Amino acid sequence: MRYVQIFDSTLRDGEQSPGFSMTAKEKIKMALALELLGVDVIEAGFPAASPGDFESVSAIAGVLSDKCTVAALARLNKNDIDLAWKAVSNAKKPRLHVFIATSDIHLQYKLHISREELIDRISTFVAYARSFTDDIEFSAEDATRSDLEFLVTAYKAAVSAGASIINIPDTVGYAAPDDFVRIVKMIKEEDLLKNVPFSVHCHNDLGMAVANSLEAVRLGADQVECTVNGIGERAGNAALEEIVMNLKVRSAYYDTDTRVDTRQIIKTSKLLSMITGIKVQPNKAITGANAFAHEAGIHQHGVMENRATYEVMSPESVGLTENVIVLGKHSGRHAFEEKLQEMGFSLPKERFDTVFADFKLLADKKKVITDKDIEALLKNSISEIPKTYRLDRYIISSSNMLSNTCCIRLKKNGEPMPEGNAMGGGPIDAAFNAINNATGFELTLSEYKIEAVTGGADAQGAVSVRIKRGEAAYKGYGVDPNIIEASIKAYLNAINNMVFQLGEAAEAAR
Ligand code: KIV
Ligand code: ZN
Repeated sequence: MRYVQIFDSTLRDGEQSPGFSMTAKEKIKMALALELLGVDVIEAGFPAASPGDFESVSAIAGVLSDKCTVAALARLNKNDIDLAWKAVSNAKKPRLHVFIATSDIHLQYKLHISREELIDRISTFVAYARSFTDDIEFSAEDATRSDLEFLVTAYKAAVSAGASIINIPDTVGYAAPDDFVRIVKMIKEEDLLKNVPFSVHCHNDLGMAVANSLEAVRLGADQVECTVNGIGERAGNAALEEIVMNLKVRSAYYDTDTRVDTRQIIKTSKLLSMITGIKVQPNKAITGANAFAHEAGIHQHGVMENRATYEVMSPESVGLTENVIVLGKHSGRHAFEEKLQEMGFSLPKERFDTVFADFKLLADKKKVITDKDIEALLKNSISEIPKTYRLDRYIISSSNMLSNTCCIRLKKNGEPMPEGNAMGGGPIDAAFNAINNATGFELTLSEYKIEAVTGGADAQGAVSVRIKRGEAAYKGYGVDPNIIEASIKAYLNAINNMVFQLGEAAEAAR
């Protein structure tokens, strides 16, 4: 059986999409999880995009072992390539991933250059990138809408200049599987290209990303580019877990495998949701909450007799396990640690202490602590953003006849602050206005979501908020059995996120 390399772009193409931005620390966590998952290449970011991206790529390059190649993206110009190399060069196995569009529509309306100029640019800057490292990936952006002969000319220029792998991106998710048949056939007819490894990178605008990627794998692709949960620009990229499990479950058909440890899939997917605050759609293949749930009686009956009646893969094969240990208020550190291990998490001591303390507080309010409660606690602590502002105490008066009011006292770096007072359209609005009053920040709420973590009267409320100061948005998450308190915690976490990202600048400009 042959192996196809998994190139994960969760931290680049995935992170690039609205709502999925991550801090450097969060990206490092995700990169370590991807390494454990067993992907071959991690595209850590686009260093020329922002100083933050540069720092994250450099930090990720510094922490990963030689099990994974770390790729940094660059456009075909000197500045991008210099920055990408500077950021990624400390990786054990660095790669420069350079790209330029080859379709006429991009040449005419975006790049404003002729085909000849494009070929010159490819020759010059692929050779420049190659002066830093032998591992050069060349991507022909919008390849699937490019003139096929010109596309092949572009690949030949890239390979002559030193590209070690060529990528076929379906940038706008336009291709049908058969388009890859034609492109790969053309490439394989060229003496210069036929032995060069090729890769595929599909977007999901027409819902074809995984099907197209698998077709390319069937045609011999050496690498397939994808993201966890399929996140990415617009409708997303090909979903890693779907590609990997297709190859596993239909191994006789594809005769191709990956080095991914499939039992890490659910854990990695959950980590991503925890970090970004964006849940996976319930009916999503492999990682959605319903992917292994059997609701209809006839299905349940079949599954009880023999799981294979309605399941093509076992939940265990993707790391979905039955709850074994149930926790309550008498559970100690040891049981809690075992529970985390059973769920696939091993936390450094300081973070364990914080989550354990939160668990004890919760256990006082809630009889049985479920896995979902623990996931919510982990999500609450995942950002490791310093809790500059914390809730001390509050009083809310809520009414359907008189104004809703809130008086709140916060602590800043452990010191009580003067009280904040405000009215609002409802109790939560009043609480948020009172926090603005106490901190002096002029913030608006741009998004508010609430859901029950589990069922039952003592269920925790999980609140996600997005606040805005000017154009910049910051997210926060809070959980508590009391939904007002969960909302206050989420709002304060968003403020702490803003203070962490802006540093002194946040405090100065009120
Ligand atoms: O979709 C695309 O074309 C890309 C390239 C940078 C590979 O993301
Ligand atoms: Zn892309």
